[in-house]
Amino acid sequence: MNPVTLFFDQLWQQYTAINPQAHAIHQLLAARGESVVNDHVALRTFNTPKLGIDNLAGLFEAIGYENRGQYDFTAKQLNAYHFEHSEDPNHPKIFISELITESFSPELQAMVQEMDSQVSDEDVQSLDFLYSGRPWDLTFGQYIQLLQESEYAAWTAAFGYRANHFTVSINHLTTFFDIQTLNQFILDSGFAMNESGGLIKGTPEQLLEQSSTLAPMVNLEFSDVNHLIPSCFYEFAKRYPMDSGRLYQGFIAASADKIFESTDAK
Ligand code: NI
Repeated sequence: MNPVTLFFDQLWQQYTAINPQAHAIHQLLAARGESVVNDHVALRTFNTPKLGIDNLAGLFEAIGYENRGQYDFTAKQLNAYHFEHSEDPNHPKIFISELITESFSPELQAMVQEMDSQVSDEDVQSLDFLYSGRPWDLTFGQYIQLLQESEYAAWTAAFGYRANHFTVSINHLTTFFDIQTLNQFILDSGFAMNESGGLIKGTPEQLLEQSSTLAPMVNLEFSDVNHLIPSCFYEFAKRYPMDSGRLYQGFIAASADKIFESTDAK
């Protein structure tokens, strides 16, 4: 199998193992005759020298990806980049964000350092690190402590390396032409959706409309106990053409900011 296809296949297997919702929606779409194409996948990390995007990007670059966009999420203290495959635009884009840890308390920074110290330089040189799950110990108490400061930090600490979400490309669907109809289908099928900032984030004028499910709760194994926490979600994206006629391939920071809240238990 092509190394890019193999990577996304492994990432999907790991993602659906804890997020049966995505598998179920994928099956519902398949039952209508759709063959689902992914617009992008999203990964989360911390900005330490070892775990930060600068270091992990080499893994995507080795399978043909190039950095094509940078985004700032000031309120959440995140940096993000999107990568596109240099030769085959049908491969999903990779959206990766990192927590700017120095913007948080000394306690949070110490916890991130402790997690980071449990990962070796060698671990992060292999593509399978990106679907290896949580590579460090974390107690439920530490998770709650992180949650006080940053929902993103808590999620990343708990779930580690995996897809935070996969994204269905609405442009590639043949039985849905707009995001409204697809959202209604998802709701009618019994799935809860993220309404932070409205059901649909972005507009045709911004060239990208997105919506997402709310992350279902999963019984996650911590170092000490198992506990129900919000897991991963499924996203839907419709892109519009630029003046050149090509579909816009970037991301809208204001929309992504709201999409991040799909893992927020509130
Ligand atoms: Ni996304």
